[in-house]
Amino acid sequence: MTTSTAHTVRTAVFPVAGLGTRFLPATKAAPKEMLPVVDKPLIQYAVEEAYAAGIRHMVFVTGRSKRAIEDHFDTAYELESELEAAGKHELLTLVRSVQPDDMVCSYVRQPRSLGLGHAVLCAQALVGDAPFAVLLADDLMVGPAGGAGVLTQMVRAFERLGGSLLAVQDVPLEQVRRYGIAAGRPVEDGVTRVEQLVEKPAPEHAPSRMGVAGRYVLTPGIFREIRNQPRGVGGEIQLTDAIARLMALEPVYAFAYEGKRYDCGSKDGFLQATVELALQHPQVGEAFRDYLRNLAL
Ligand code: G1P
Repeated sequence: MTTSTAHTVRTAVFPVAGLGTRFLPATKAAPKEMLPVVDKPLIQYAVEEAYAAGIRHMVFVTGRSKRAIEDHFDTAYELESELEAAGKHELLTLVRSVQPDDMVCSYVRQPRSLGLGHAVLCAQALVGDAPFAVLLADDLMVGPAGGAGVLTQMVRAFERLGGSLLAVQDVPLEQVRRYGIAAGRPVEDGVTRVEQLVEKPAPEHAPSRMGVAGRYVLTPGIFREIRNQPRGVGGEIQLTDAIARLMALEPVYAFAYEGKRYDCGSKDGFLQATVELALQHPQVGEAFRDYLRNLAL
């Protein structure tokens, strides 16, 4: 760490090139990141989480058939002028709030599906030599009621600890093969210095049940490790493998966040997020609660 801004996270990377095969046919022509939970697309939840953490530069690692994401974070001239002419000011404010004036969006293509590590490497030129966050929009993260969002908690921890951070939660043993699994030495409440990190292990090979959720704060040294590593599980360039290499050179911490994660890459998680966020929604929450109470389940 050499620059004075070394402990400030200014850029967030959103790998959004994935095909979303688990949601076919919904994702045949529409990006999975644009699937709405109640009234916002998944990607917007992640971008808002990064914005709330003080990040203003959003880098999307995108691919073919993902144009809707760029349009979502751009001005919608026809829509806005029609809402204005119709005097629908609340809707106009809502539409414009998707891209605040001080937020900058950059887009880079991931030309081939070579894995999450490769996606992050595609963002290198836009991130530069500075720490950055990675958010997987499939994981919808909700902070504790009235408290800081998950990435805000991580950025604060990064400013204190200075090393890369992985968001972790305990997962059931039978689910460890869905996650990167970390293990190590506790250094403070909720923070573990990672000494082992394995991508999607079989239960008998898992070093712990501490599963990595889709939020990372990484130092720029990760780019060198991604570039130099061999292909990992599934022939892909895994981010987990690069982090495992990085932790031999500098501290990497597992951070047990406060809040809840919905795995919106799966139908179960997506439905749970929809129901729980609908119940909390200021407009529809009450009526939806009554509706659920009266369902004959
Ligand atoms: C990715 C990572 C994995 C992490 C997971 C969190 O896997 O490779 O380490 O635990 O995200 O959602 P994916 O779900 O993309 O297969």
